Amino acid sequence: MSKLHYPDLQVCVLAAGKGKRMRSNLPKVLHKVLGRAMIDHVLHTVEALQPKAIAMVTGHASEMVREHVGQPVNLDWVIQDKQLGTGHAVKQCEKVIRDVRDVLIVCGDTPLLTVATLARLVDEHRAANTDVTVLTAKPANPFGYGRIVRDEHGNVTSIVEQKDATDAQRQIGEVSSGIYCVRHEVLFDLLHAIGNSNAQEEYYLPDIVPLALNAGQSVAAIAMDDSDEMVGVNDRVDLAHVEDLMQKQIIKDWQRRGVTIEKPDTVRIEAGVKIGMDSVIQAGCYLIGTTHVGDECRVGPNAVLVNAWLDDRVNVYAFSHIHGASVGSDAIIGPYARLRPEAQLDEEVHIGNFVEVKKSVVGRGSKVNHLSYIGDTTIGSSCNIGAGTITCNYDGANKFVTEIGDNVFVGSDTQLVAPVKVGNHATIGAGSTITRDVAEGGLTLSERRPQKYAASWKRPQKDHS
Ligand code: UD1
Ligand code: MG
Repeated sequence: MSKLHYPDLQVCVLAAGKGKRMRSNLPKVLHKVLGRAMIDHVLHTVEALQPKAIAMVTGHASEMVREHVGQPVNLDWVIQDKQLGTGHAVKQCEKVIRDVRDVLIVCGDTPLLTVATLARLVDEHRAANTDVTVLTAKPANPFGYGRIVRDEHGNVTSIVEQKDATDAQRQIGEVSSGIYCVRHEVLFDLLHAIGNSNAQEEYYLPDIVPLALNAGQSVAAIAMDDSDEMVGVNDRVDLAHVEDLMQKQIIKDWQRRGVTIEKPDTVRIEAGVKIGMDSVIQAGCYLIGTTHVGDECRVGPNAVLVNAWLDDRVNVYAFSHIHGASVGSDAIIGPYARLRPEAQLDEEVHIGNFVEVKKSVVGRGSKVNHLSYIGDTTIGSSCNIGAGTITCNYDGANKFVTEIGDNVFVGSDTQLVAPVKVGNHATIGAGSTITRDVAEGGLTLSERRPQKYAASWKRPQKDHS
């Protein structure tokens, strides 16, 4: 889609409600859908229209919402002290709206909305020179939504909320998405005229429809292509449903961009994740937060990547957990490896089963293949860290650093008691406890107790009597 730009459009985002049905201390719009707060999904979408300005209506826990969103340059905060309804919420924006042709009203609780749909709404509203245009849909289950009431000629006459609808009106399958495009010139006169004599004693935004018709203004309804886009989140059942719908969309997008996803129903790929071409994501993987997977990687099955960075051609085997770590190209991780924050692995590194790496740099081609803990450490290139090696970085109060040079061989079951340095090309014998710096080259090993042999010893035999 070419870049959009609507310099004479004002957007209003309604996000003042508590979202009672969520039963939460968190305001509804801060609940996350695939790792991103609902309000961020909506803002991201409306910002892509490049409108003149965005007015964000908050009320319940407005400080929390404000703190979360920050201060985008073209965003005005509007406080609705009492949540007296969606019409009342839009009315609060009157002061901040400057000269624009139209006002696009969206709810903060419909995160699946797409830019293309909003652009079509505005374009068609303008092409037909309409005063009030509402975006409608025919969802599989219309329960809870405002119903679109039409006269015998098919013209929209009003929108009736679920709680106010007659039994006959509840049979109507066409519903309001809660999204409107309204000519600025008429909007606020209409809003000043709405009342609150309805089941919820709220000032309903949908009531601008009959008021506009009474005033001789034009009203139109535009149907969405895909009713899934307008699914609103009112409780946690909706939240899971919306997440499911968004997940399917995101997975399809990656598949179309050249990513193979095995058993897609078992995989979670959050909204902020990036995946390169010809990568394969196997069953049960969780790709979370800002995770980046390069080209031609293979991940899984059942790997968890949280804010992780994988370069190209990385293999992450089953049940590995990578959190806040970066992995260079052609590296091999796992199975059952754990990379923790600030682990930085260079190209061609191998990290094997039951190895934990934290806040450490591992140089090109080095291998830590079995049962090790590497913390607060730098390892040079081409090292081999033997099975069971532990960097003892913590004395119970403070953390200390281990520095290992290039081409070092550390024998199995070695403890490196930090702070300690190991020179280039050094070899450390198996079972050593290293408490002082190790010189370059040569063999270093801690004193071993002599091995004994008892020729006359007999292994106890099982009694079969
Ligand atoms: C609303 C619409 C309904 C539509 C549905 C689509 C009204 C009266 N109803 O119903 O026609 O089918 O959305 O999802 O408009 N809000 C405020 N201030 C308020 C009240 C609400 O800012 O005083 C915000 C909420 O935070 C929310 C949005 O407006 O983001 C919609 O409110 P909600 O209570 O979810 O309305 P619905 O019952 O979903
Ligand atoms: Mg809603």
